[in-house]
Amino acid sequence: MAQIFEQESRTFSEYLLIPNLTTEDNTPDKIDLSAPVCKYRKGEEESKLKINIPMVSAVMQAVSDDGLAIALARCGGMSFVFQSQSVESQCEMIRKVKKYKAGIVASDSNLSPDDTLAKVLELHEKTGHGTAAVTEDGTAEGKLLGLVTTRDYRVSRMSPDEKVSTFMTPIEKLVTAPEGTSLKEANDIIWDNKINQLPIVDSQGRLVGLVFRKDYEFHKANPHELLDSEKKLIVGAGINTRDYETRVPALIEAGADALCLDSSDGFSVWQKQALEWIKSRYPDVIVGAGNVVDAEGFKYLADCGADFIKIGIGGGSICITREQKGIGCGQASAVLAVAEARDKYFKETGVYIPLCSDGGIVHDYHMALALAMGADFMMLGRYFARFDESPTRKLLVGGSYVKEYWGEGSNRARNWQRYDDGGKGGKMAFEEGVDSYVPYAGSLKDGVETSLAKVKATMCSCGSSSIEEFQNKARLVVVSSTSIVEGGAHDVIQKESDRTAR
Ligand code: IMP
Repeated sequence: MAQIFEQESRTFSEYLLIPNLTTEDNTPDKIDLSAPVCKYRKGEEESKLKINIPMVSAVMQAVSDDGLAIALARCGGMSFVFQSQSVESQCEMIRKVKKYKAGIVASDSNLSPDDTLAKVLELHEKTGHGTAAVTEDGTAEGKLLGLVTTRDYRVSRMSPDEKVSTFMTPIEKLVTAPEGTSLKEANDIIWDNKINQLPIVDSQGRLVGLVFRKDYEFHKANPHELLDSEKKLIVGAGINTRDYETRVPALIEAGADALCLDSSDGFSVWQKQALEWIKSRYPDVIVGAGNVVDAEGFKYLADCGADFIKIGIGGGSICITREQKGIGCGQASAVLAVAEARDKYFKETGVYIPLCSDGGIVHDYHMALALAMGADFMMLGRYFARFDESPTRKLLVGGSYVKEYWGEGSNRARNWQRYDDGGKGGKMAFEEGVDSYVPYAGSLKDGVETSLAKVKATMCSCGSSSIEEFQNKARLVVVSSTSIVEGGAHDVIQKESDRTAR
């Protein structure tokens, strides 16, 4: 007869944290939000990969490309670049992140002198960047002829056919610096000349990159940037259980720092086979696996050699797996069950396997709950899709700005490898995700800072200065449906102007 679990499965919104004593040590500036990503012998050694904030971005087309990966790593987190694309294009994205030099960037808006104002506007709309380099051949490495910034043209007074060569700021009037200029020197030149960007050129006058005043300031002001030993940004990559024999070697070659098996149901022999194949050839490569929702799934993947384990089935905002297949578990219950199994595994083996809570984070306080319940870090899709840096279009819908966000199991992404049924493959019999919009939320840096300020405030209230301490001390209570009502503004007539999204 079927087994029925005694406890019903619950979501984050059904829990609250009871505060502990807050002491002088519990102030936001003293909180360490770093988290391990790779299993390790806790107490004897350090995890070989740690992130500086407990956030990773979802393995999704609408979320994790190179642009978001750069923005997130600069804030201390890590992206897993989506795998539902060709091996070549995924590797190209990884390479772009690894090549990114904080402070000196390859120009991604480039024009040739014969391009028109219409082309400039089109490029501006596409990249959102106000500065474009004008090179002889219109490439990022061509001979630099000038720059076009939004100060160089006035749309209302000029014809869209006007040639770039007639209104660009020509090279003779630009301040440039030779290849080999250090970031510090570049910054001094920017300050001394009161300019906003400095092109770096080689001995033949070809463009090497641009240094932006604002980027340098960001770099100096951000101590959390996630960098490898060569000071390159850290980036992960999604993989699947079908083409790992070609994808994994290519991703390693491209420089991926960690891999993550991307599957809606990770309790499968396909994950075992993939993990064994990778670990036997690349024992030092970090590979996460999942997703699972209970102790059995955890134990299976732990025994197969997973370096971290991802939790969550059916809780994603765009996910309809539970409706379609009737499998899954409330995210809070899943995290609690897997964390209990992880702690048991640690006691038995001395090996601590980091856990990632994947999907279902709606409010910022859900992040604090996920951590308190035993997750070491969170994977977020909807959350990151809302920011400027996500790869999708920003649109005006019904008077509000939104960004597109679609599931990997939607018809739009058709990521059949993620929804692998072990059959011949190559097609999806039904959808497990939807295509949607999410409210636009500005820059990733601002959003992440606000969310983490809340997480830190919660940790202070719970008398904790690190995620580990938070997990050990957390006291949680299940809330009744009426106390959920009590938790929001109630029994007042709220002013329209005060109803902002929180
Ligand atoms: P979110 O942060 O709640 O938007 O959830 C993101 C997570 O949902 C991802 O990391 C995946 O685990 C999962 N996911 C992505 N696409 C789909 C889909 O189409 N169906 C079901 N789950 C999905």
